[in-house]
Amino acid sequence: LKEFLGNGSHLFVITTLPVRKRWGKKLLTALSGSGFQATVLEIPDGERYKKLATVEALAEKLVRAGADRQSVLIAFGGGVVGDMTGLLASLYMRGVSLVQVPTTVLAQVDASVGGKTGVNLKEGKNLLGAFHHPRVVVIDPAVLSTLSPREFRAGVYEALKCGIIGNTRLFEQLERISPKNLQKDTNSLEWVITQAVKLKAEIVSADEREHGLRRVLNLGHTIGHALEAETQYRRFLHGEAVAWGMIAVAHIAKVTGRINPNSAKRLTDAVLALGPLPKVQVKGRNILKRLQADKKTKNSVVHFVLPVEIGKVEIVDDVPEAAILEAVDVLRDMAPRNS
Ligand SMILES: NC(=O)c1ccc[n+]([C@@H]2O[C@H](COP(=O)([O-])OP(=O)(O)OC[C@H]3O[C@@H](n4cnc5c(N)ncnc54)[C@H](O)[C@@H]3O)[C@@H](O)[C@H]2O)c1
Ligand SMILES: [Zn+2]
Repeated sequence: LKEFLGNGSHLFVITTLPVRKRWGKKLLTALSGSGFQATVLEIPDGERYKKLATVEALAEKLVRAGADRQSVLIAFGGGVVGDMTGLLASLYMRGVSLVQVPTTVLAQVDASVGGKTGVNLKEGKNLLGAFHHPRVVVIDPAVLSTLSPREFRAGVYEALKCGIIGNTRLFEQLERISPKNLQKDTNSLEWVITQAVKLKAEIVSADEREHGLRRVLNLGHTIGHALEAETQYRRFLHGEAVAWGMIAVAHIAKVTGRINPNSAKRLTDAVLALGPLPKVQVKGRNILKRLQADKKTKNSVVHFVLPVEIGKVEIVDDVPEAAILEAVDVLRDMAPRNS
């Protein structure tokens, strides 16, 4: 941080209680050991607090704590902390520096990179936000040891997604190793995270504002988001919904003749091997309705990112409704064996 921020910056560490309890001391000792002055501010934990009211309350705390234009905000936590701290950094005194120190797999491989920040509205997720890139992202896989196995796995699906989009070696590594062993193996973890971050960084650098290429990162998300919304965001962790979404698009790609059946099966098996996943018990018709209302729908056409082989995807806007309905049936049929 000294290298990037210089000496003398006043740091404000934004975090939540679970992260502070486990790793706060370690971070603060390291910061003060390097001569930084750091103030810790806590926000309530959980997606339901990812709203503008929390950002406003935090901004008021910052003022009272003496933060000015030269202050630096450090987002120390999962994607929720990252998104809110990022948004606050873009707004506070018209913008201050941001450092991301992500502490979940999802935040390390995905949310901390790419500059998207935001909060939810009652009407939908991430509807209010800004692009605000961090000056630095500091990733230490060691902090992942305290994640619950379920949270850990949920993030690994996003790494697997990166493998499917454009990194066959990453896919193969995740095919080989169980999540349980991966969580204990810091070297493999570091490699997996690095590969995923590289892929995301490459894509985002080529298309920061999501005009085209960046949309490939939504692999599994079209149906994944619909599953999350249809179950009121209670049943699935985000990564779990994306996992089902990836199986669904493997099926759609297969029945529309874009991927060979062997590769579709291999992809599906790789997703399932990282499980268990909560069952899918939704109606295909309801998913279809959600898709049509989704914000990623342009000119009322639903765009799908479809795998065409392991390590290669295509964006397609002519997926027949029947294939989507059938894919949801496939998910429902798969679920009982798997959970
Ligand atoms: N900006 C982006 O590009 C982007 C991309 C993907 C997701 N997101 C956002 O990220 C959010 C989800 O992030 P998430 O999955 O990290 O959830 P989260 O931030 O809610 O963290 C999950 C839980 O794990 C706890 N936790 C965090 N680190 C821990 C650790 N090291 N040990 C033990 N517990 C720990 C948290 O306190 C929380 O209870 C969503 O709001 C999503 O919209 C943003
Ligand atoms: Zn995602």
